[in-house]
Amino acid sequence: MRIPLLLFLAASLSYCTSEQQSIDPIEQKVDELMSKMTLVEKIGQTAQRGTSSRVKGELSEDLKNAVREGRIGSLINVMNKEFVDELQRIAVEESPNGIPLIFARDVIHGFKTIFPIPLGQAATWNPALVEEGARIAAVEASTYGVRWTFAPMLDIARDPRWGRIAESPGEDPYLASELSAAYVRGFQGNNLTDPTSMIACAKHFVGYGAAEGGRDYNTAVIHESLLRNIYLPPFEKAVDAGVQTFMSGFNELNGVPVSGNQFLLDQVLRQEWGFDGFVVSDWNSVTEMIAHGYCVDEKDAAFKAARAGVDMEMTSQSYDNYLQELIDEGQLDIQQLDRMVRAILRVKLRMGLFDQPYRVDNEELILSESHLKKAKTAAAQSMVLLKNEKKLLPLKPKQKIAVIGPMANAPLDQLGTWIFDGDKDDSMTPIASLQERLGANIQYVQGLTYSRDQSKAQFARAIKAAQQSDLVLFFGGEEAILSGEAHSRAHINLPGAQEELIKEIKKKTGKPIVLIIQAGRPIVLENIIGDVDAILMAWHLGTMAGPAITEVLVGDINPSGRLPISWPKSVGQIPIYYNHKNTGRPARAESFVGIEDIPIGAWQSSLGNDSHYLDDGFEPLYPFGYGLSYTRFEYAGLTISADTLNEREELKVNFELSNTGETDGVEVVQLYIRDYFGSITRPIKELKKFERISLKAKEKKTLEFTIDKSDLQFYNANNELVLESGLFSVFVGGDAQTTMKQDFWIE
Ligand code: BGC
Repeated sequence: MRIPLLLFLAASLSYCTSEQQSIDPIEQKVDELMSKMTLVEKIGQTAQRGTSSRVKGELSEDLKNAVREGRIGSLINVMNKEFVDELQRIAVEESPNGIPLIFARDVIHGFKTIFPIPLGQAATWNPALVEEGARIAAVEASTYGVRWTFAPMLDIARDPRWGRIAESPGEDPYLASELSAAYVRGFQGNNLTDPTSMIACAKHFVGYGAAEGGRDYNTAVIHESLLRNIYLPPFEKAVDAGVQTFMSGFNELNGVPVSGNQFLLDQVLRQEWGFDGFVVSDWNSVTEMIAHGYCVDEKDAAFKAARAGVDMEMTSQSYDNYLQELIDEGQLDIQQLDRMVRAILRVKLRMGLFDQPYRVDNEELILSESHLKKAKTAAAQSMVLLKNEKKLLPLKPKQKIAVIGPMANAPLDQLGTWIFDGDKDDSMTPIASLQERLGANIQYVQGLTYSRDQSKAQFARAIKAAQQSDLVLFFGGEEAILSGEAHSRAHINLPGAQEELIKEIKKKTGKPIVLIIQAGRPIVLENIIGDVDAILMAWHLGTMAGPAITEVLVGDINPSGRLPISWPKSVGQIPIYYNHKNTGRPARAESFVGIEDIPIGAWQSSLGNDSHYLDDGFEPLYPFGYGLSYTRFEYAGLTISADTLNEREELKVNFELSNTGETDGVEVVQLYIRDYFGSITRPIKELKKFERISLKAKEKKTLEFTIDKSDLQFYNANNELVLESGLFSVFVGGDAQTTMKQDFWIE
């Protein structure tokens, strides 16, 4: 009985699917357009042209003609409303089949209302807030006709020397995946046809963040199970969330540039994940395959990119120049081109561009009060309190405060990298907010005029101000230009004479110093960690940095950000990340002998042959997931629902969280698992759940998480997703170093 019934169901299901496909109005419309388009128009759809980021003067006749002839599918960076309207009008009214253009732009962390850099937003551990920020960015950008953003960047990054870490979701695949879905939902909104919906682009597919030595554009070598376990999950999650486009990156992966990589763009993305949107190359990344040494010339590059699955070419013009020739010569199958064009048209149709090609003006919402308020909330939740000796923070009433440092009044730099449309004149700076809030109690001496400043001309004044105060707020960090694309650094300490100034202040005044860091990456603090009494990591927080920082410093807002990346003690420790392997000789605190303690003439074996650095140990300065609060949280009573499970059963994990301090606060509760033995070795911990929990002073809550097979599986050496039997632990706590655990077995 059973088999025939199943067969019947399968047959009727496949009947329904093919039936539905043929009556899907979008696919029908795609068919209809394809049947009318010439080869020139089809190739035209695959071309994305750049214009200068601020178009002035007249629109060029060449550009207008190209649009008129259907030789362009998308334009990037046309930031002039009239030009957008005129070009769209030409496309819709004068091009052969009236196919609308998509206008694209990098709207990475806000359009005019700038939110924290993505690494900062990752520190909120608050996907709902990230989603709201992305929605606001879409509402603002679509006013200028931007219906496609090149975000979110989903590159897992384990190396803070890499400048683009600022734009990344950090080191963890699970946190990055949750944020990935949030960004996609926010940018795209509930309905792609809404004129404020901006299609998202999951980039840079893939491995760009694994650039050797953190040097941008550099080689990435990632074996396949590592790729599948660590680097691919946020991208797959973007597909699940309905992302409409992908970007192939600049880098090569395992010897093949990703913009010519069939395995990634076809096998993984389309065949395994079922992605049916389109793939755009990165800026010239198709023709850069020549420099990579993978293609002999532009024609070869066009062929290899198209064959691999790049549907649209950003800015370089090899498709324009050679696709026709490649097809005429029979090298490239016309069906391949048809598949590319169909994907692009499908997305344009899904966006409703054929019915509503023109932008909707929401100018009055740009930088509106509600947008600024949300940006402030995001900025506040992004901040991570790293150190707070003698409860220096929050500030106490009537304290005399010296505000010193190059970043207290750096309206451009607080916006961070990738802010094409942000305006420093809209920035609310920390010094302005502090002065407004604390008035006469503030004495401000910049000390250094910008982050790389080496001049000591203002040192004496800064020291005097510190002398006359109860405490120093030192606003240090990096200018925005020191992180972002192509802005990697080999030394990631505070640049310029900042360290010297901090040391001088400490030495000459002994006053407590609160270091507020505004930077695009974790900063190595080894030279000054002993000189500062409190540290607040404030990333580049965007337009509302000033009020958000002020409210955290005075205690109106209790800091709740947590590190989305391990914070290294030194550059020499990099890469250092929490979900590393155990090794055969894991580091042990009990047998570790630091370099200063090695007896003169000691024998090698007396030191313990473990995996550590003699001079920097084996732990980062601050672990992944870490962050302090003005209150204290305690975890207790961890229990699990079973000691042994089969693969179909769920495990309930219960514990109690208490706020034992005197202040209300938010804890980011984290759940990790460890899988002790596998057919390939497994990380020592993996984040599987998290939640922001608000607790009033002295409040206690019982919390429950449920984990199931999907949390325990991994890709094995054959790249199959498997759950293997054996011993596991579940950990809960406030960062990746938590030791509170329970063990269970999977049978
Ligand atoms: C970057 C991309 C960006 C593109 C367009 C490239 O240099 O790598 O992330 O989307 O430019 O501006």
